[in-house]
Amino acid sequence: MKSMLSTVLTILPSITAGFSIPTPPGKYNITMSSGVLIDHSRGDRALMVSVFQPAECRSVVDVPYMPNATAAYQGAYIGKLFKLDFDFSPLLLQARLPVCSVSTPSKDQINDCSPVEDDLPVIILSSGLSSPRGLFHILASALASEGFTVFTADHPGETNVITYPDGHSVTFVGPDPVSLDIIAPYIQPRVLDTRLILDQLSNATAMGELFPQRGPRSFPTDRIAMVGHSLGGVTAVHAAAQDSRIRAVVDWDQQLFGPALSPNFTTPVMFFNRPNSTKLNWLDAWPQIQGPMFWAEVANTTHQTFFDPPMLLRAAGEDLASFADFAGTIDAEHMLRMQVAYALEWVKGAFAGKIGGPILEGQEQDKFPEVTVIERRGF
Ligand SMILES: *[C@@H]1O[C@H](CO)[C@@H](O)[C@H](O)[C@H]1NC(C)=O
Ligand SMILES: *[C@@H]1O[C@H](CO)[C@@H](O)[C@H](O)[C@H]1NC(C)=O
Ligand SMILES: *[C@@H]1O[C@H](CO)[C@@H](O)[C@H](O)[C@H]1NC(C)=O
Ligand SMILES: *[C@@H]1O[C@H](CO)[C@@H](O)[C@H](O)[C@H]1NC(C)=O
Ligand SMILES: *[C@@H]1O[C@H](CO)[C@@H](O)[C@H](O)[C@H]1NC(C)=O
Ligand SMILES: *[C@@H]1O[C@H](CO)[C@@H](O)[C@H](O)[C@H]1NC(C)=O
Repeated sequence: MKSMLSTVLTILPSITAGFSIPTPPGKYNITMSSGVLIDHSRGDRALMVSVFQPAECRSVVDVPYMPNATAAYQGAYIGKLFKLDFDFSPLLLQARLPVCSVSTPSKDQINDCSPVEDDLPVIILSSGLSSPRGLFHILASALASEGFTVFTADHPGETNVITYPDGHSVTFVGPDPVSLDIIAPYIQPRVLDTRLILDQLSNATAMGELFPQRGPRSFPTDRIAMVGHSLGGVTAVHAAAQDSRIRAVVDWDQQLFGPALSPNFTTPVMFFNRPNSTKLNWLDAWPQIQGPMFWAEVANTTHQTFFDPPMLLRAAGEDLASFADFAGTIDAEHMLRMQVAYALEWVKGAFAGKIGGPILEGQEQDKFPEVTVIERRGF
């Protein structure tokens, strides 16, 4: 711990100027928007969402990774939660995402940002317990850069800190994740938040408010997938079991728990986990997964390898060796590419009604040697 503390002190000066997250791996640049969706059926519950869309542009601008108030609060929280002698706040405050600018250009600037096309498939990306959606912006960017519109949301009454467009923040002290029974009641509110997003995709007025540049037009809802980490992965399974609009599920590193799934649940589910997840209660959960299923483990990862923090540490030039217990030893950028590659081959197959492909069928073992398939079923 002592050595980690000295790392903090030495890296601080180098990042005060801000640092850029690498451009996302896919074939497109991306845009980032955020705004509010209101659930009138649940006491005007205000859901903050971020949306990433593929675009093409000749130059990108670096925008803050997350709002300052979220960064300051959440940075301190992560250090405490994982008992690290390291304050993530400077990292979260200084990180910048490279995006195409959709804002009105100044007179000597050409606004060259053009959206890719309008009829794109949609991914709902669900964060882990208490985690602000901002900690998924790198993953969301990576998925969007492959040609998907990606939505990610905060959950009032669960997310640690939510910063609204007027700059005010609301904090919430969530449950200590000591047992799954304590966390299970948080699943259904998330399922309903997901339903709100899916409903509003067809609401041209709501979409026009969220994307003024795009105007009052709905999004297609015939190709929707849900991907999540930790509690977000479990949320994806439960949301899909209750809503047939979700046609594919990817659960990153969370065993299944919560209420029994509906017997008509045949949506394809991928489980992509850290090593030794067979020791958890997965096997008990299998009978509930009746559709196509893919289950794999990734060597040299931890639970935290499956969301943004390792990429943030890497982009800030941190010595990742001192974070091995927290972030695993796999290269963060390689991990990001692998997560996206497996998830999207799964999702695209589900949309096409024909799951499979070189990665899922084990033909790209050289590219991703860390992956061990535990079980494949129904495809
Ligand atoms: C993204 O934007 C940069 C400009 O900063 C450009 O050089 C690059 O080719 C773009 N990438 C894609 C995939 O469009
Ligand atoms: C966020 O904090 C940085 C300094 O860390 C400051 O430069 C910037 O203006 C702040 N942004 C807002 C919106 O307050
Ligand atoms: C559609 O969105 C508008 C604007 O947010 C909202 O006022 C309206 O209630 C929504 N309609 C439905 C059916 O949800
Ligand atoms: C299962 O049935 C319920 C009730 O009819 C329905 O609301 C839900 O969408 C169905 N789920 C799937 C995945 O088809
Ligand atoms: C996984 O379990 C095996 C057998 O119990 C053990 O040898 C190995 O160290 C474990 N690996 C990890 C990463 O926990
Ligand atoms: C896991 O990491 C160790 C040490 O870096 C490395 O030797 C090993 O090859 C890695 N395992 C896989 C499957 O990549």
